[in-house]
Amino acid sequence: MHTYRPCALRTFVLKVQNARAARQFLGGLVSGDASSPQLATADQWREAHAYRVNLGITYDGLAALALPESSLRTFPDEFVGGSVAAAARIGDAADSAPEKWQEPFARRDVHLLIFLFITDKANAANSIETVSARLRALYGGTGACEELTVCDAGSLPGDVAHFGYRDGFAQPTIEGGPPPAIPDILPHASASEFLLGYENLTTDSVPEPPELCRNGSYAAFRILEQDCHAFETFLAQQSAQTQLDPELIAAKLCGRWRSGAPLTLFPNADDPQHEDPGSFARYNSFDYVKTDRYSPHDDYDDSRGYLCPIGSHIRRMNPRHSKVAGNSGLSHRIVRRGLPYGPPYDAANPHDGIERGLLGLFIGASLKNQFEFLMKHWANDGGFAGIGQTKDPILGDNSPADSKFVIPLEAGKKPVALRGLPRFIRTRGAAYCFVPSVTALRYLSALS
Ligand code: HEM
Repeated sequence: MHTYRPCALRTFVLKVQNARAARQFLGGLVSGDASSPQLATADQWREAHAYRVNLGITYDGLAALALPESSLRTFPDEFVGGSVAAAARIGDAADSAPEKWQEPFARRDVHLLIFLFITDKANAANSIETVSARLRALYGGTGACEELTVCDAGSLPGDVAHFGYRDGFAQPTIEGGPPPAIPDILPHASASEFLLGYENLTTDSVPEPPELCRNGSYAAFRILEQDCHAFETFLAQQSAQTQLDPELIAAKLCGRWRSGAPLTLFPNADDPQHEDPGSFARYNSFDYVKTDRYSPHDDYDDSRGYLCPIGSHIRRMNPRHSKVAGNSGLSHRIVRRGLPYGPPYDAANPHDGIERGLLGLFIGASLKNQFEFLMKHWANDGGFAGIGQTKDPILGDNSPADSKFVIPLEAGKKPVALRGLPRFIRTRGAAYCFVPSVTALRYLSALS
């Protein structure tokens, strides 16, 4: 699928112990010294690299690095409050509430997150330990930071995520960015939706100074536990009740077959060629409604959701040109990065007591108008698309007592309603991060 698709991710969660030493450590990540781990830059997308290092700094982290108050107060409220304050807004309640998160994510001493992505599959375990040792020597050996925890994730056999779907097909194509791994036919997203410092209608406040913020971004880091047993049980129960094939139900919930083939292009059966890269190169080239952008051969007319339910996960998360409240179908796009954690689910041993899920990064120039908007309005409220009080069947804050997912069938047939969806995804940790540019790290390291 993706040429440089990572196969492992280690996230180091650090607390700044000594501001000056920590700033020097960050400066070292952009020193140009090839013998030491360096921050990933856009150039790395054009060449093969065994690993990539990305960095996120929380608001508390910027304060702990002793960023001047004049700059700290220019950051937007949602970033300042962080993911704990956001919990109530985005459905992180009950078992997903910050009080139930893994240590140390609900604490305010989570300062830096270093994301080490390994792309060298043949040598992944070795590479991850080698680069980890070098990073630890840099931040630990100098007294710069204390390691609070690490979170590991890695690709599963068959490159599927938990729940059995292949992921990573749909990403926005960004104006001026690297070419998409899988082509898409949607209008390109402006770079300003993903990078700070450019005129951006969705960003209400660009922090200062420009050396720190220009070309930076924000990422919502999420540890999302997936209840695979509940998911498979739900598919089997609903299949027994509705006589629909469980694989079709799985496809309707997501909007894609577990192979990744989109329902819009393959409405009745999975793509028989889904192992063929030539076939899945088409998997992001579709829309839900007709627009004058497409040729008469690309006749997308699924405004009623007969092919792909309006309430399915991918149609909620990216309604494309569908009619939605505010006509904002393409205004809240997000870049996703992530990998599964925990071993594959084994139906023969469903209660193995091992946690599994997704370590995900949801990236955009505005946490409020991108990540939070998706979670609050599109995942947890069906009002935006005229489908009433329903929630995303995969991601939503559902409760079996009142949850519903409607599968429209063709014209003249009664829709099938699935009821009693539990919450399949539980938040286990989260952090809102500022993702600095190379210039920003040089600026930080030069602060006295
Ligand atoms: C464990 C939690 C999650 C699971 C199991 C999951 C699953 C999936 C799957 C299977 C796809 C289809 C693959 C693709 O289109 O590339 C997908 C797409 C997507 N997901 Fe999720 N997802 C999860 C969490 C989230 C979250 C938290 C967000 C954002 C708030 C999100 C936003 C999206 C978006 C934007 C797409 C692409 C839609 C498109 O452009 O067509 N997902 N997800």
